Amino acid sequence: MSDLIIRNCNLGNSDSKDIFIKNGLIEDITNNIPKIGCPEIDAKNYFVTSPFVDSHFHMDATLSYGLPRVNQSGTLLEGIQLWGELKPTLTKDAIKNRARKLCKWAIARGTLIIRSHVDVSGDNLLAVEALLEIKDEMKDYIELQLVAFPQDGLLRSNCHKNLIKSLDMGVDVVGGIPHFERTMVEGSESIKILCELAEKRNLLVDMHCDESDDPNSRHIETLTLHTNRLNMKGRVAGSHLTSMHSMDNYYFSKLIGLMVEAEMNVIPNPLINITIQGKHDTYPKRRGMTRVPEQIKAGLNVAFGHDCVMDPWYPLGSHDMLEVAHMALHVAQMTGVNEMISCFDSVTTTAAKVLHIEKYGLKKGSYGDLVILQCKNKIEALRLKPTRIFVVKKGKVISSSNPTEYKLQLNSKPEYTDLIF
Ligand code: FE2
Repeated sequence: MSDLIIRNCNLGNSDSKDIFIKNGLIEDITNNIPKIGCPEIDAKNYFVTSPFVDSHFHMDATLSYGLPRVNQSGTLLEGIQLWGELKPTLTKDAIKNRARKLCKWAIARGTLIIRSHVDVSGDNLLAVEALLEIKDEMKDYIELQLVAFPQDGLLRSNCHKNLIKSLDMGVDVVGGIPHFERTMVEGSESIKILCELAEKRNLLVDMHCDESDDPNSRHIETLTLHTNRLNMKGRVAGSHLTSMHSMDNYYFSKLIGLMVEAEMNVIPNPLINITIQGKHDTYPKRRGMTRVPEQIKAGLNVAFGHDCVMDPWYPLGSHDMLEVAHMALHVAQMTGVNEMISCFDSVTTTAAKVLHIEKYGLKKGSYGDLVILQCKNKIEALRLKPTRIFVVKKGKVISSSNPTEYKLQLNSKPEYTDLIF
């Protein structure tokens, strides 16, 4: 918990403000805060934002690309099979080393909150132990929210006991994967069991739900049913929901009303959805991302997740939430001004709401967490995915980088550009 003054902050409008962080909390945002002898940094009128939030990730599998082999087909199912081959060979130290490295990449990119699913469907809870230890080790720098995720299916892999044990150990959120159970009936049954478990323990729910191209998959509908029945409105998130891309428009018009009634939170994963879905198509190929503009228009909170970085499902990435929002914007054709702004919010403020994060945002009383980007506003941030000049956590600079500048030598005299419009 530190004191810090940040001078000349561009908050996305023309005004320049100073931000005073006292004991790790934002004390004031105003003009010309007097010197009090605490450390100061100069934002140089670059854009200052709350930190990025990754609403959906798999920290136990990250940075395992190529182990024990690469995903040749690039499909979701081969990825799950590959993860099954890798699991018996995992050690706690190896998981921790990879997770720690990923956390450092995320911090450098300005992401200070990650919700990570952790597989609880194996013979042991090695990954749970590893990620709980990393959560504790990194807690002064990055907040990890863990989801008990029955990757191989709650009923299909009979991992109910493991899932409960992981919650007893300190995992925060109840996960699920109904579309991977053997039948639609068992998928529905898994949703009922998991929602009741979460309600009993007063926990949030976040299920991988209908991550398929099947227009007839109906687990989102079932998730809204149990959300309402158990009075868990606003406390349940559906991750992926890719079936909504392919479903009939008439049924969609019914389903969106049910989602609004349940105040369901939506977590698409654009980088993964665009590469994994539509694999069985010839042409035209479906994009496979859920219906983001329509969900936002209906009033739902939509937060984007990175999902994967260099793992059995995705060979690329460096954990940059601006890359995620940039992809979402393109896939959903959200180039309207307010649409672009909402894409930025889906990796910052809206995501914090979906994850029920407290004291988040650039306002008095919130944690002194922020990122200074080498750009002027949210839309330019999406365009440039710029250098994160300073990353501040509770009043302490935990990452910094020099602004990027390109030296052009077109004539005898060199000139410089930073790509800012
Ligand atoms: Fe996922």
